[in-house]
Amino acid sequence: MKYKDTHPRKVRGAAVHQTIGEKMKETPVKTKAKQKDKEKKNRSVPSIGVSERQAIEEAYLAPEIDHFVEAHDVKNVEKRIKLWLNTGYPVHLIGPTGCGKTSLAMHVANELGRPVVWINGDESITTTDLIGGYSQIEQESIRDKYVHNVFKSKDILKADWVDNPLALACKYGYTLVYNEFSRTKPAANNILLSVFEERILELPTKFGEERYIKVHPDFKAILTSNSVEYAGVHRPQDALLDRLVSIYMDYYSFDTEVNIVNAHTGLPKDDARKIVGVVRSLREKLPDAQKPGTRACIMIGQGLRALNGQGNKNFEQLCIDVMATKTRSPMDLIEKQALVKDAIAALA
Ligand SMILES: Nc1ncnc2c1ncn2[C@@H]1O[C@H](COP(=O)(O)OP(=O)(O)OP(=O)(O)O)[C@@H](O)[C@H]1O
Ligand SMILES: [Mg+2]
Repeated sequence: MKYKDTHPRKVRGAAVHQTIGEKMKETPVKTKAKQKDKEKKNRSVPSIGVSERQAIEEAYLAPEIDHFVEAHDVKNVEKRIKLWLNTGYPVHLIGPTGCGKTSLAMHVANELGRPVVWINGDESITTTDLIGGYSQIEQESIRDKYVHNVFKSKDILKADWVDNPLALACKYGYTLVYNEFSRTKPAANNILLSVFEERILELPTKFGEERYIKVHPDFKAILTSNSVEYAGVHRPQDALLDRLVSIYMDYYSFDTEVNIVNAHTGLPKDDARKIVGVVRSLREKLPDAQKPGTRACIMIGQGLRALNGQGNKNFEQLCIDVMATKTRSPMDLIEKQALVKDAIAALA
C-alpha cells in the first residue's frame, strides 16, 4: 500500500489535517519583535582569530595613533603609566586640553599587546553603555494544529545579550581606554568601583551566576580627564579617584612639540619652531580655558603646508585663525590678534 501523507478526511471540500510538509512550512514562525539597538548589534564581539586584536579594535572604533613621537619627556610619562598598570592599578591621566593625554593613553594601550577597547565619556552614557545589555529581543511563535480540533500556541521571547567595552575588557583581559571619563555622570561610573577594587564586574540586569564576572588578570584600564573644569564635566566620586593612580601631565617641552609638528606635517624644523614659539607664547598669556594645545601647533602647521611656500606672508593670519577658536567676544579677538603680532615680532 502506498503511503499517503494527507489524512483523507475532508470537511466542505477542505482537508481537516495538515500534511507534515504543510506543518513544517507553517511552524515555527519567527518574527523579530524588537530591533532595539541596531548599532549595538553590529558591534557584537568579532570572531576570535589571528587578527582578533585588529578586529576588536575596529569594532570598538579605538582611534589609531599616527606619527607618534616618543621623545624623552613622552617616554618618561609612558614609563610611569606602564609601571602602575603592571602593578595592577588603573591609571588616570590628567592634563590640560591638547597636551597629549588621549594619544599617550592609546599609544601605551597598544604597546601592551592586548586588544584595546575604547569608551568616550559623555553626559548621556549610562551603565548599560559601559557593560552592555539586551540589544535585541526575538519572538518565536509556535502554532500547532496537529489534531484538527486542538490548537496549541506558544510564544517564546529570546533576548540577546551584547557586551559593551567594559564587560568585554573584563571578561577577556583587554585594555580599556576610557577617554574623558569625567564627562559621564558619576552614577554611571559606579560600576567601576568593584572592578577596580574587588576585581568583580557585576551585571545588574543579569541573574544568578551570570550576574558576576571575575575580572581577567590581563584587564587594564587607562582613564583620561581634563584638568581644566568645563561645563558638562562632573567631579568623579572620591571612591573612584581613590582606586586610580593619577598621573598629571603638562604640555610637552618646546623641542618635543617641534618634533610633533614636524612628524604630523612634514614641515622643516625651522617652520615648526616658529609655530611652536607663537603658540607657547600665547599659552603663557591666556587664561587656562583658552590656552592653545599641541593640536593648535599642528593645525597651523597644516595650514602653512597647504599654502605651499606662500605661508610666510600669511603666517600671522593662520595663527590668528587657529587661536580664535575659543574667543568669546570681539575684544577677546583683538587681544589675541595683538598677542600673535607680538609673539611673531619677538621671533624675528
Ligand atoms: N607624543 C605625540 N606624538 C605625536 N603626536 C602627538 C603626541 N602627543 C600629542 N600629539 C598630537 O597632539 C594633538 C593633541 O593630542 P591629544 O588629542 O592626545 O591631546 P588631549 O590631551 O587628549 O586633548 P583633549 O584634552 O582636547 O582631549 C593631537 O593631534 C595628537 O596627534
Ligand atoms: Mg583627548
